[in-house]
Amino acid sequence: MLFASFDLVSALATLAACLVSLTLLLAVSQQLWQLRWAAPRDKTCKLPIPKGSMGFPLIGETFHWLLQVRRIPGSSLAPGLGPVELISTEWKGPRLSYRFHEALESYLPKIQLVIKDTLRAWSSNPESINVYHETQKLTFRMAIRVLLGFRIPDEELGRLFEVYQQFVENVFSLPVDLPFSGYRRGIRARETLQKGLEKAIQEKLQNTQGKDYADALDILIESGKEHGKELTMQELKDGTLELIFAAYATTASASTSLIMQLLKHPRVLEKLREELRSKGILHNGCICEGSLRLDNINGLQYLDCVIKEVLRLFTPISGGYRTVLQTFELDGFQIPKGWSVMYSIRDTHDTAPVFKDVDVFDPDRFGQGRSEDKDGRFHYLPFGGGVRTCLGKHLAKLFLKALAIELASTSRFELLATRTFPKITLVPVVHPVDGLKVKFFGLDSNQNEILTGTDAMLGATVFGIQGGIKPGVASLCAVLSGFPLKPASRLRDKPKKKWE
Ligand code: HEM
Repeated sequence: MLFASFDLVSALATLAACLVSLTLLLAVSQQLWQLRWAAPRDKTCKLPIPKGSMGFPLIGETFHWLLQVRRIPGSSLAPGLGPVELISTEWKGPRLSYRFHEALESYLPKIQLVIKDTLRAWSSNPESINVYHETQKLTFRMAIRVLLGFRIPDEELGRLFEVYQQFVENVFSLPVDLPFSGYRRGIRARETLQKGLEKAIQEKLQNTQGKDYADALDILIESGKEHGKELTMQELKDGTLELIFAAYATTASASTSLIMQLLKHPRVLEKLREELRSKGILHNGCICEGSLRLDNINGLQYLDCVIKEVLRLFTPISGGYRTVLQTFELDGFQIPKGWSVMYSIRDTHDTAPVFKDVDVFDPDRFGQGRSEDKDGRFHYLPFGGGVRTCLGKHLAKLFLKALAIELASTSRFELLATRTFPKITLVPVVHPVDGLKVKFFGLDSNQNEILTGTDAMLGATVFGIQGGIKPGVASLCAVLSGFPLKPASRLRDKPKKKWE
């Protein structure tokens, strides 16, 4: 009995000693951590470092940052978990921007084709679709088929997309390689993806016939050669994975925001249609053949304002990281050489004095007469700035414009029955919490709903005569828009322009 109580006392004493040592260790490391960061890093500069907490040892403000996502008071200079390890966060390939710009004209028909195909599938779905999920698929397809020029069959593309999603879901996991951890799942997904990419790259390298344009992979290989360096297969796989990563989530986020804003603001959609009609692009509910050229699209000023405003208010990437190369002063504080700093695109757009009513979706703010973005270079930067500015910005804008034109010309879309717009979350990129559930319909030449694939089999061809549309016009519409027309019986009780 005496021995038993002695054991208990000694166990409790050991536990207490452990707790005290642990508390002491934590307190000392916390103090050392504070000391490390409180001491001005650049002794040649007299200015203090910015106020603010540096958080806990090693993890810094990471959890605070994850919870808040927005500003960390004082310093958002939080030393966190370090760079994402599953993919390089820094593009090490050549500066492709100007080459992309040159290639845009040749990308356009391919982009259109991918978008047309996708909208046809959305319209033929009897249910509503999850816009965010579907635009992810769409931009993945665009990245694989247009940006990289891979000829991967649809079924395999679907499988790759599932794996890619798994990879993206685990990209931001703790870099601890344990069984069942997110990191391990990420590594597995990356390996599978790289195998798929290797196969596609090899096929592409062997099959160069019939190519009418230079895609990003060609440009990557060519500029390697220009610099006297043949890229290895590993470098090509890494390069393509990085490009898909950069292109996919950002463009899907912006596409979803675009669709949501067009739904919310029917006046904007109608104004877009007016512009398309006035420029001879939209006629009788069809995109006129040959009218979608780069110069025509660049001449669409209102469309440009709409895309700019979507990217201002719903900027997909909240900011970027930089390493300070030289100590500089900011608001009376020194930012020492060697620190990591984050610049916030979202906060810049929210607080830039040049924008009136910052929370209002108002494309006209970029229009002639107001041009709110004309003063200053650093108020509007959805694609970042400086030497690390987005390489795909022209391609992304072209894609969004082609999507808006196709939506305005050949689709009608409605929010699901509830008619309340979902809340927006900011992580990992801006998107609606429920993905945005929308029902898509096609449009015929009178801007009425048009039929789906199944309806086509039920005798759509008679509609041209029954519905009063000249058969020639009807078939031209079907050929150009890719949509067969809807039978008159299904149209009778449908009011025109229900979206108004
Ligand atoms: C709406 C769509 C897009 C948005 C909003 C966007 C935004 C950005 C931003 C803000 C950065 C700079 C991050 C920083 O400052 O560190 C960036 C970098 C980059 N973007 Fe995009 N991006 C988009 C689409 C694309 C597309 C389609 C591509 C495909 C080619 C692409 C390729 C890249 C690459 C390779 C970088 C890294 C540049 C470097 O580190 O030098 N982006 N993007």
